[in-house]
Amino acid sequence: MDQTLSPGAAADYIAAQENKSLLRFLTCGSVDDGKSTLIGRLLYDTKLLFEDQLATLENDSRKHGTTGADLDFALLVDGLAAEREQGITIDVAYRFFATDTRKFIVADTPGHEQYTRNMATGASNSDLAVILVDARKGILTQTRRHSYIVSLLGIRHVVLAINKIDLVDFSQSVFEEIVAAYRSFAHDFGFETLVAIPLSARFGDNVIERSPHTPWYHGPVLLEHLEAVEVVRAAASRPFRLPVQWVNRPNLDFRGFSGTIASGVVRTGDPVVVASSGVTTRVKSIVTGDGERPEAEAGEAVTLTLADEVDASRGDVIAAAAARPDFSDQFAAHLIWMHEEPLLPGRSYLVKIGTRTVGASVTEIKHKVDVNSFQRLAAKTLALNEVGVVNFATLAPVAFDPFAAVPQTGSFIVIDRISNLTVGAGMIDFGLRRATNVHWQALEVTRQSRAAMKGQQPVVLWFTGLSGAGKSTIANIVEKKLHQLGRHTTMLDGDNVRHGLNKDLGFTSSDRVENIRRVAEVSRLFVDAGLIVLVSFISPFRAERAMARELLGPGEFVEIFVDTPLAVAESRDAKGLYKRARAGEIRNFTGIDSPYERPEAPEIVLEGGTTSPEALADEVVEYLQSRGYF
Ligand code: ADX
Repeated sequence: MDQTLSPGAAADYIAAQENKSLLRFLTCGSVDDGKSTLIGRLLYDTKLLFEDQLATLENDSRKHGTTGADLDFALLVDGLAAEREQGITIDVAYRFFATDTRKFIVADTPGHEQYTRNMATGASNSDLAVILVDARKGILTQTRRHSYIVSLLGIRHVVLAINKIDLVDFSQSVFEEIVAAYRSFAHDFGFETLVAIPLSARFGDNVIERSPHTPWYHGPVLLEHLEAVEVVRAAASRPFRLPVQWVNRPNLDFRGFSGTIASGVVRTGDPVVVASSGVTTRVKSIVTGDGERPEAEAGEAVTLTLADEVDASRGDVIAAAAARPDFSDQFAAHLIWMHEEPLLPGRSYLVKIGTRTVGASVTEIKHKVDVNSFQRLAAKTLALNEVGVVNFATLAPVAFDPFAAVPQTGSFIVIDRISNLTVGAGMIDFGLRRATNVHWQALEVTRQSRAAMKGQQPVVLWFTGLSGAGKSTIANIVEKKLHQLGRHTTMLDGDNVRHGLNKDLGFTSSDRVENIRRVAEVSRLFVDAGLIVLVSFISPFRAERAMARELLGPGEFVEIFVDTPLAVAESRDAKGLYKRARAGEIRNFTGIDSPYERPEAPEIVLEGGTTSPEALADEVVEYLQSRGYF
């Protein structure tokens, strides 16, 4: 049997066993603190290993082990060959084991500095954290960081496992010093229980059996504590939330809303609200894998049918009518950044809360947190592993709760639009009301009527490409031709806009993000006015071009890539800027020491190096005419 199960599968397997209580915990620590060895020891000594696995382990220990003739328990847990070669644990691995009194799911999370992401993943559904410290090294920055994240993620029970106590001669004073240091920084973390245990994962001292070498220690040994610690699983006592995963409509008579209950309990007859519309109704029936039921609770997958025909789609939240979630497009949050490329405020990322994924950007970094001193520091960005308090704005309103009230609907991940990687994780502090007090003014002259009067379909012609590619030259000719055809146009050109609206911005990545954000917003206003808008900016980043596209409706954004080779653009050098950039007089110059990300699926590609600007402009006009823009 494979002991590496997905958390869901492990939970199911264990639930199928007798009715022992279940403890989910995670282990965290630095690379060499001995996490994997400790987990291996728990699995081995609780006899949850199977013969074939033991055979593999013995083999592997001989091949890769670092413990001589002894079994290397770390190898048992560090399942992947690649990890073994690197000697670090990369992913979250879930293991389970059971004793006579309790069942356990343990998330083994990596301790390597750059893998905080996995740790946060493992922590998000754990009741308790075992934080490992090497007795020889004491509290490290990582210990602080992991403890902070554990507390941010709402874990209230912590074991401070002071490992390798054998290597400090089972010294009581070393143990006590580390415990005192830990308590002094962790006192604000709101841990309900904090138990420190001196142990040796390698030799088994105080893991399952009381060690004869630490007669001065009178607390519980690790397994004893894990079996006894009382954790209240709060999810069921919180307000009811069902993030809708899909709308189940097998025939015209049945419409059910399916998903996994994120928190609370639901019973037939309960009044519920659809968060996005505020429409209330009652629960008609609750359908589960084992048929209809009068009641279901957090963690269960259900399909609800409702008493009235209401609209709700994937990403909506069906919630207790008397305890509604927030529904807003701005919130304040704690954000853990998890990517080598720093956070860029103003950049449009994807935020996933529950089943809803929405475009979102950080509008303000209030401060970052120094994980050593817990001081608030001013910050313009967040680097890998940094934690900050930030404001987010989403492109559309979303349903959420403060993390403290409902962790399941109060946490989110941040995804990079281009790479699809998870680059951050956050906990919502509270919704921001400022956007909800400013209502959209309903206008009687609409964008449609403005456009109709001009007899054209408004559109943004977004020219992107290197400096000197010919964007402005071509855009100028296009505009002239459109004029001759009696079209209503306007032009936004990088060099010109940077003298006015954007004169506060330079050429760092974050200034370029803001440059494009403003131009995208302005071009949307011009589209509302019914105009054909020519935008000519380098706009080097895919993410911002994607954001501009998303601000506009279907067919309203035409990306035109002026694909001129760098060598050609550089040889033109009309403004002498390339020369200065090569000489090191201008920094962050696109194509030289700042990247240009080529469009992947532009509507139009213009071969700027070979064809005349006149002919290229004709291609654009033909595109518009053939698609009926006017
Ligand atoms: S963008 O990258 O933020 O889209 P934008 O199109 O507004 O750039 O401005 C580019 C123009 O600014 C270039 O055509 C060039 O004339 C000038 N410029 C000055 N410094 C730089 C630089 N470091 N990188 C690129 N362009 C620069």
